[in-house]
Amino acid sequence: MASLPKDLSDALDSVLGRFAPADMTRSVQNLIQQYREGFDPADTVLGSEIDVAAYAGYRMPATFAAISTALRHTAEMAPGFAPRTHVDVGGGTGTAIWAATGIWPSLESVAVLEQAPKAIALGKRLAKRAESPAVRDARWEQAVIRGTVTKPPADLVTMSYVLNELPPDTQEGVVRSLAAQARMVVLVEPGTPAGYARISAARDVLIDQGLSVVAPCPHDHVCPIPRDRDWCHFSVRLNRSALHRQIKVGTLGFEDEKFSYVAASAQPWARAANRVLRHPLKRKGLVSMRLCTGGEGVTDEIVSKRHGDAYRMARDVSWGDEWPPSTGDGSEE
Ligand SMILES: C[S@@+](CC[C@H](N)C(=O)[O-])C[C@H]1O[C@@H](n2cnc3c(N)ncnc32)[C@H](O)[C@@H]1O
Repeated sequence: MASLPKDLSDALDSVLGRFAPADMTRSVQNLIQQYREGFDPADTVLGSEIDVAAYAGYRMPATFAAISTALRHTAEMAPGFAPRTHVDVGGGTGTAIWAATGIWPSLESVAVLEQAPKAIALGKRLAKRAESPAVRDARWEQAVIRGTVTKPPADLVTMSYVLNELPPDTQEGVVRSLAAQARMVVLVEPGTPAGYARISAARDVLIDQGLSVVAPCPHDHVCPIPRDRDWCHFSVRLNRSALHRQIKVGTLGFEDEKFSYVAASAQPWARAANRVLRHPLKRKGLVSMRLCTGGEGVTDEIVSKRHGDAYRMARDVSWGDEWPPSTGDGSEE
């Protein structure tokens, strides 16, 4: 079960504490409706202070968990990658910079590009309370992405939950420009068929730009998942904070955030042999896994007790993991 790091959780409690929960609840309902009905790119999202506070309380924990999981999988596949510089595009209140510094403490210099001034203001207030000096000293730049992104060279470039808000005919150009002068690009979208379709199209663009896929795919071939029947996505379970439960009336103490992602690197890394595409079915003496493989498309594999060590490893494997787990020797391909 994922939970927020203490500094981010304390920052949210303290910065959001001055807003009335009833006002945030109203804003959350509006946000949910906006996300459900889709965006008119002419809409101002996160235009008011209370909408930004509601977004931070209601969505930051979930996007943090999804981004952290995608970055952790990326780091597992690129064990020698120790980024010093990071640019987060459409960064909102800064979720990805908290997640990235949690995965790569090597980060020293961080920039957030974001269009909404109120999101930048709240993001800065949160960031002041971070343990990481890179997050505390992050540069926040008000920038509206149109056809391309103008950004400084960076070891790591992230864009999470943003493609959905850009006009479809600009998405390819935006992704192409993210890849320029970047060592690693990581994109995250909601784990819906539409989110996956955007990630899949972005993956094609990144490959076309000369990057190699690091995660989740164990290959750079055409995605073998049949579009009309399935979509590549992952899930992370997270604790709902007291604040979250207050502003979004729900009975459960946890939620499952579904997400799709792609990470691609300018230099190739040794690949996963396979990626686990669903919750493995674990029964007495048997583990059954659906896998995306390096060369044979999507296959189902059953590991039983008689496989010895493989069975013991399979007992611990989760949806989204590489299979079999690699030892991570730090080598480039
Ligand atoms: C759903 S929020 C995601 C925020 C953050 N990346 C996260 O993962 O929590 C989408 C963000 O994209 C920003 N955004 C949308 N369109 C944009 C554009 N054309 N230029 C810059 N930022 C944009 C919004 O202002 C908002 O902060």
